[in-house]
Amino acid sequence: MLNIVLFGPPGSGKGTQASKIIEKYNLIHISTGDLLRSEVEAQTELGIQAQAIMDRGALVSDEIVIGMIRKKLEEHQDGPGFIFDGFPRTVEQARELRKALTDIDERVTVLISLTVPKDELVKRLVKRGAETGRSDDNPETIHKRIDVYNTQTLPVAYYYEKMHKHQPVEGVGSVNDIFKRIVEVIEHFS
Ligand code: AP5
Ligand code: MG
Repeated sequence: MLNIVLFGPPGSGKGTQASKIIEKYNLIHISTGDLLRSEVEAQTELGIQAQAIMDRGALVSDEIVIGMIRKKLEEHQDGPGFIFDGFPRTVEQARELRKALTDIDERVTVLISLTVPKDELVKRLVKRGAETGRSDDNPETIHKRIDVYNTQTLPVAYYYEKMHKHQPVEGVGSVNDIFKRIVEVIEHFS
């Protein structure tokens, strides 16, 4: 299996690049943000709880997120692999992912970290907020999400660094150029 963690701050292009990677490698896309947004849309109990947290730019509890991931892994354990987008976001989630993959005799192949300067992130997200109305794409919540990334999520990169599985990729430029950089990394690690 090819199991890729696509990592980076809000607006770094994880979702955009994930769709291109899936097309080329046939992987199962697991975006915890998308899964949570479908719960919000369906107004499930979990969705109602999650909405308030997401609108403040904070993180939903590890327990909820890990439960969603385990379910997805079980459903697709005979496939070609996974792309994790926006997960793990805490070291606890990284440890739980390791356990869940070990349970199916698998491991993370590589964590690809998209690097984009903060002013570019804010610009992209403000633009998307205006175009799509995504409720956490307003200036106040965008800054909060970036702060949460720097304090709670960045340690995940060091967790994989220790296992020599952390690979930064420049996330500025055309979507296709960035994709080419990502493919080089995947080919190297797979
Ligand atoms: P999530 O949905 O994961 O959002 P995010 O990490 O904040 O990131 P985005 O989806 O906004 O950005 P992206 O990196 O995917 O970039 P995209 O390709 O869209 O999480 C939302 C919330 O859910 C969290 O705040 C949290 O509350 C909760 N949550 C989710 N996962 C969780 C977890 N594991 N644990 C706890 N809580 C969790 O691109 C952004 C924009 O830029 C787009 O408009 C795109 O068209 C544009 N763009 C992309 N590439 C380029 C480029 N090269 N040049 C110019 N523009 C570009
Ligand atoms: Mg996304």
